[in-house]
Amino acid sequence: MSAIPAIEYDVKDINLALDGKRRIEWAEREMPVLRLIRERFASEKPLEGVRLVACAHITAETANLARALQAGGAEAILIASNPLSTQDDVAAALVSDWGIPVYAIKGETTETYNRHVRTALDFHPEIIIDDGSDVVATLIKERSAQAKEVIGTTEETTTGIVRLQAMFNAGVLTFPSMAVNDAQTKHLFDNRYGTGQSTLDGIIRATNILLAGRTLVVVGYGWCGKGVALRARGMGANVVVIEIDPVKAVEAVMDGFRVMPIKEASALGDIFVTVTGNRHVIDGQHFAHMKDGAIVCNSGHFDLELNLVGLREMSDEPVTLRPFVQEYKVKANGHRIIVLGEGRLINLAAAEGHPASVMDMSFANQALSVEYLVKHKGDLPPGVHLLPREVDAEIATLKLRALGINIDSLTAEQIEYMNSWETGT
Ligand SMILES: NC(=O)c1ccc[n+]([C@@H]2O[C@H](COP(=O)([O-])OP(=O)(O)OC[C@H]3O[C@@H](n4cnc5c(N)ncnc54)[C@H](O)[C@@H]3O)[C@@H](O)[C@H]2O)c1
Repeated sequence: MSAIPAIEYDVKDINLALDGKRRIEWAEREMPVLRLIRERFASEKPLEGVRLVACAHITAETANLARALQAGGAEAILIASNPLSTQDDVAAALVSDWGIPVYAIKGETTETYNRHVRTALDFHPEIIIDDGSDVVATLIKERSAQAKEVIGTTEETTTGIVRLQAMFNAGVLTFPSMAVNDAQTKHLFDNRYGTGQSTLDGIIRATNILLAGRTLVVVGYGWCGKGVALRARGMGANVVVIEIDPVKAVEAVMDGFRVMPIKEASALGDIFVTVTGNRHVIDGQHFAHMKDGAIVCNSGHFDLELNLVGLREMSDEPVTLRPFVQEYKVKANGHRIIVLGEGRLINLAAAEGHPASVMDMSFANQALSVEYLVKHKGDLPPGVHLLPREVDAEIATLKLRALGINIDSLTAEQIEYMNSWETGT
């Protein structure tokens, strides 16, 4: 391990740095697009001297984003966006090998989590990379005078963008925010294939159950839900989809899934996964109907998709059976309900989050959004903004090149045809 730089930090154990460094370099192999951006940033220094806070899942993939931002000249500090998602060895390596202050410990209490958010604000960031909008919401609620120091923010996830839009509608968002999640090269891949695979990975690592032949209920058929349903079917589960949006419900039907209300599905499911971004989508009345031994988890951003307070009130004291596996015994019928990862994002709590290959594109969007905000400092109005579509195309082109895949381009004749209207039948 290299000498520990004289910076402040709060990580579990700095001596884990060597394992973390190996993990970061392993992820980097699958992140060629971000590596190219890092190399360009290192020569152009577009973020020179910019004070930046990143509130993110502290994983090997995020570490590679931090390296790119640092190469671009940013003074960055990192905090966890979830108390259970930190990889402690990665946090140690970022401090020890890259000199980046990190405030994140896997299993930190809500108090510590909130203290880290305030530490991040004490740093007076000009750019905030947020995941779920906790830093921006705290800034607006508690430090509104500091908002004028902010050039802009970027938001990683669906839930965070919903919150930012609500802040804008309430007239309290006074700076521009880049909706990274809404880039096509983010949600089509990260939310669908990333969440699809890593959610099942989390369930399997926590429980080691066989999915084949089980009834798996997916609540929410958005980008994440589609991914979970697709991959669960691929492993032989009978998938049931729950939706409130009629268009998404028809889509699920035509994708070949059974669709029904959650009340009906409660009695059928062996495994339940929530991915709605909404509150209490599995409530006390649904827990009351579940089979003995039903497994319940969440992969949506916040831990309130499952009403665990309600479950606790109707059950005996929960018993921890294995890491990330707690059993609640419902008093009324004696049924055992198994809750994974305390209702927090199961793919990050019990597994390692998304594979690096999808985070490559998500974090390319993050890095380019930060560059865009700095380049357009003062030009963008407050509100939620999309990165220009050409950036999506550029990221996808770089990804294809890295995968060694060539595609066609339009001929001059085709371009002319696509821009004309005279030729019909
Ligand atoms: N686990 C991860 O790593 C990860 C990755 C990306 C996004 N997320 C989070 O997952 C959640 C979903 O993201 P998304 O991109 O799929 O969003 P989305 O908006 O594409 O989909 C959410 C779906 O849930 C449905 N829904 C809302 N309330 C419902 C209810 N009561 N019952 C049934 N369906 C309901 C909506 O109609 C919508 O179709 C968000 O909280 C997001 O931040 C998690």
